[in-house]
Amino acid sequence: MFEEAQYLAPVTVRADGGVEVELAHGHPGFADSAYRERRNRIAEQALGHTVGAPIADVAYTDEEHEVWRVVSEELGRAHRRFATAEYLHGTERLGLPADRIPQLQEVSDALAPLTGFRYLPAAGLVELREFYGSLADSYFHSTQYVRHHSVPLYTPEPDVIHEVIGHANALASDRFAALYRLAGQAARRVETHEALEFVSKVFWFTLEFGVMTEVGETKAYGAGILSSFGETREFRGMNIRPLDLAAMGTTPYDITRYQDTLFLAESMEHLEDVVGTFWATCDDDTTARLAVPAG
Ligand code: TRP
Ligand code: FE
Repeated sequence: MFEEAQYLAPVTVRADGGVEVELAHGHPGFADSAYRERRNRIAEQALGHTVGAPIADVAYTDEEHEVWRVVSEELGRAHRRFATAEYLHGTERLGLPADRIPQLQEVSDALAPLTGFRYLPAAGLVELREFYGSLADSYFHSTQYVRHHSVPLYTPEPDVIHEVIGHANALASDRFAALYRLAGQAARRVETHEALEFVSKVFWFTLEFGVMTEVGETKAYGAGILSSFGETREFRGMNIRPLDLAAMGTTPYDITRYQDTLFLAESMEHLEDVVGTFWATCDDDTTARLAVPAG
């Protein structure tokens, strides 16, 4: 089992100050030295960021903008059919460009007046407590690199398309933004690592991979589904289970492939009642009790 935060490629700073992103052997960009060099430069820039200072622009290449253009167009079409109304409402409010990769500072500036959320650049792995905890303060840690051009439909590694098209569009909705904040507050409140993992798994099966009934159809609102054009077209064929905290907090998942188990909320209100209330109130005891198999 992998966790999103742990799947991000490790970043090392060499003795000479050079920054190196260690792509795994199977990574689509592994043998592409130009891509690896880009990843190193982008990570180096993110490491130099201090909270409160403007986020430095990334000088994206034409090829990188082209990846965004292609994916953004395909996703736009797919979202109109398969995304929930509340997510589409966020999309409309945020108004992301379709023809180029927006800079994170730009995304942050567009988002802040809507729901108060701001973006922070992440070079690589962000520790679980830090990633989730900062949501309580309306900060979202985001990668800046774009997926390799050979894998536009799906990438096993969260990239700027996932962070911005998947998450920022949701964070532009007041109702989703409130849920993200509650997840952050829960991550700050719980003390044990087990409890934190439980909170993060509920996040995984809802805000990352959640689906919802809407006028008799199954729609997606999870950022991980909605940033993958391949997964957006296929989620309806997966094993879709009723929303259940104990099951979400204990079901294993593999981050490297399409999610085969998804949890269905009956409505936005249902999601807020069950998951919002859980995050608003949970502690180490609640999560421990839920984690015990029933019967
Ligand atoms: N598969 C997603 C996409 O293609 C990106 C992604 C990789 C992701 N790992 C993730 C999303 C983990 C959510 C959680 O856009
Ligand atoms: Fe994500």
